[in-house]
Amino acid sequence: MAGNMEKRASWSGKWAFILAAAASAVGLGNMWRFPYLAAKYGGGTFLLTYVVLVFTFGVSLLLLETALGRKTGQSAIGAFKSFGKKYAFIGILASAVPFIITPYYCIIGGWVTKYAAAYVVNGPAALADGGDFFSGFITSNVESYIWMLLFMALVFIIVGLGVKGGIEKANLVMMPALIIMAIGIAIYTLTMPGAVEGALYYLTPDFSKFSPELVISALGQMFYSLSLAMGIMITYGSYMRKKDSLTSSVVRVGGFDLGVSFLAGLLIVSAAFVAMGSGDAVAEKAGPSLMFITLPTVFEDMGAMATIIGFLFFVLVLFAALTSAISLVETLVSIVQDGMKCTRGRALGIVIAFVVVAGAIINAGYNGLSFIEPLGAGTSMLDFADFISNSVLMPIVALLTCVFVGWIVKPKTVIDEVRISSKFTAAGAWTIMIKYIAPVLVTIILVAYVAAQFG
Ligand code: PFF
Repeated sequence: MAGNMEKRASWSGKWAFILAAAASAVGLGNMWRFPYLAAKYGGGTFLLTYVVLVFTFGVSLLLLETALGRKTGQSAIGAFKSFGKKYAFIGILASAVPFIITPYYCIIGGWVTKYAAAYVVNGPAALADGGDFFSGFITSNVESYIWMLLFMALVFIIVGLGVKGGIEKANLVMMPALIIMAIGIAIYTLTMPGAVEGALYYLTPDFSKFSPELVISALGQMFYSLSLAMGIMITYGSYMRKKDSLTSSVVRVGGFDLGVSFLAGLLIVSAAFVAMGSGDAVAEKAGPSLMFITLPTVFEDMGAMATIIGFLFFVLVLFAALTSAISLVETLVSIVQDGMKCTRGRALGIVIAFVVVAGAIINAGYNGLSFIEPLGAGTSMLDFADFISNSVLMPIVALLTCVFVGWIVKPKTVIDEVRISSKFTAAGAWTIMIKYIAPVLVTIILVAYVAAQFG
């Protein structure tokens, strides 16, 4: 979209931006990652910390990125470069993130697609076998790769149809469908015996569970979930019109993303509670496999409804994953198009080739290349890609962005841009956040994460 050869796109209005940003934000992070972190870190305590972080730190950074995009009218690299050539590297680092995330996002997207189909083809009992189905599938190499390609094909067809014809239309259908399915399945799950106790565990904060590790995990999750620190929101901001309010838009995006995480957590933590019977058991077992191993055992107990609930649940996750993957691929296409000064079609071809090859390598990390254990015994290349993007590059980019705006170009640059379209009474608090609080918090996440891996 941000091509040099084509007219720069712009949103048809404030709501088009909100929908696109929310579609990018709501993804596997909300459906798969948030619930298992909430389960692991004591339910309500994590939830409360996360809510506070989203409405302080998260929304402040969203505002900063969209304002920077709208002010400069450029995507990440150009936006930073417009303040001086020497700052382009921040945009380059930000742009590296979607290159690392996209291949593994498509692999997990493939797992989700397979599960949706398997509810119909294999039936709910086949998936509820304590993990054999899951591990058999992800280590299958060829089969899992084919499902990844299938997921990728869906993404590329939509992106190939263009911004208005493909992406906006797809979001307009998938986003409301996603909300309806999430609410419906959550209500149904809560009727299961024991689920209400699970919901209470999820909703009631237990402050004895509060820990620095919890805050750090909540912060990392927030970056990922809001699609921050990877240039996406800068690009999306650059398509915004000067008359549309940035403040109310970003609060809505943050609130919407939080709402979906909240619902997914309610559904999955309550279901896990049904399967395991106590908060401690849920916390102990919670991890990436919660969605693929624990949840199918709960669905199986739903009797006649098992197939339909299981299928709808994975279609819901698939929609969330698709809309996010679309924003990742769209970003890659615009980076390649700007960087190589080529047409959109050619850029799309390059991005497809990249994802096909990188995806094959990471996928083989569960099979032929499983001897590569980048983060120690038992870890995969997918874990490594997740770690480098989420826990290393994103905090670094967020830190550099805050220092850049807070100390180099000065907060006034962003505040003036925001004030073109809205009041921004919280400018003082926002400045303190960007200059002091955010850089310190981000430095803590960074050091803690890296120390936890290599310490
Ligand atoms: N925010 C997405 C999620 O929560 O799943 C992940 C994501 C999408 C990250 C798009 C980056 C991105 F560009």
